[in-house]
Amino acid sequence: METLDLLRALDQARDFIVKQPGFVAPKVGVVLGSGLGAWADSLKNAKPFPYADIPNMPRSAVVGHAGNLVLGEGPGGVAVACLQGRVHAYEGHEPSKVVFGARLLARLGCHAVLLTNAAGGLRRSFSPGDLMLISDHLNLMGRNPLVGPNIDELGPRFPDMTEAYSHAVRQLAKAAARAANVELTEGIYAGLLGPTYETPAEIEMCRRLGADAVGMSTVPEVIALRHMGVPVGAVSCITNLAAGMTGHKLDHSEVEHTARAARDRFVALLSGWVEGVGRAGESLVGQKGLGG
Ligand code: HPA
Repeated sequence: METLDLLRALDQARDFIVKQPGFVAPKVGVVLGSGLGAWADSLKNAKPFPYADIPNMPRSAVVGHAGNLVLGEGPGGVAVACLQGRVHAYEGHEPSKVVFGARLLARLGCHAVLLTNAAGGLRRSFSPGDLMLISDHLNLMGRNPLVGPNIDELGPRFPDMTEAYSHAVRQLAKAAARAANVELTEGIYAGLLGPTYETPAEIEMCRRLGADAVGMSTVPEVIALRHMGVPVGAVSCITNLAAGMTGHKLDHSEVEHTARAARDRFVALLSGWVEGVGRAGESLVGQKGLGG
């Protein structure tokens, strides 16, 4: 998509949402991964907008990923905008489409965006259902949503990725986990294109590269949001041990089943996190653990 077309497409989508009766500008954006979609239904005064109704918004074909942007009041009265379902690069969407929803959250005025996903665990100490705060990522998807002419209105040509996952937002996740009595470890997420699960050799490669978890999402959205200067946090639900680590094969239904089983803990963490991030508000935007 041409630069101007993309900006126009984003603004059309934003204007559609902003012009809805009773629109309240969201403070925190949330991208809900596998098994967490129902969190958006718990919002007060929830207003769901099916992706099909939002101009230019791509739709996911993955079963279990409802496609709605939901505005509402989250824990602590924080105004949130949720993406209930995301599109993935493996569905064949152009990278700019994959990150359209994340960019829309930023254009709607979110001061920070929290992302969730399902991932395979590489640490031998992981058990299915564990939650992992992403400290950094490896982009092994072979693509980057910023390839092409830079859209100067969105951000710089060469965005810094030293602190892709905001230190301050991560501290708030740890505080929320402690308050909810939920165990939360921290680690590095490797994003792969999929849709095949990895081979055991690829998992060994990822481990040697320093990854703690692997998945097929999140990395493009984080890149697009950092380009726009939006602080980001992300948590993976480790739904399975990665390929070759157990005696059995991987199966999407197992991923879904574990994500559902972990939902209550994930929801408790997410709710406290959203409240904390909402309270911190705009102060997060300028906060950089490493300066710059
Ligand atoms: N690999 C890639 N993506 C995943 C996995 C996995 O093992 N589990 C959940 N999403």
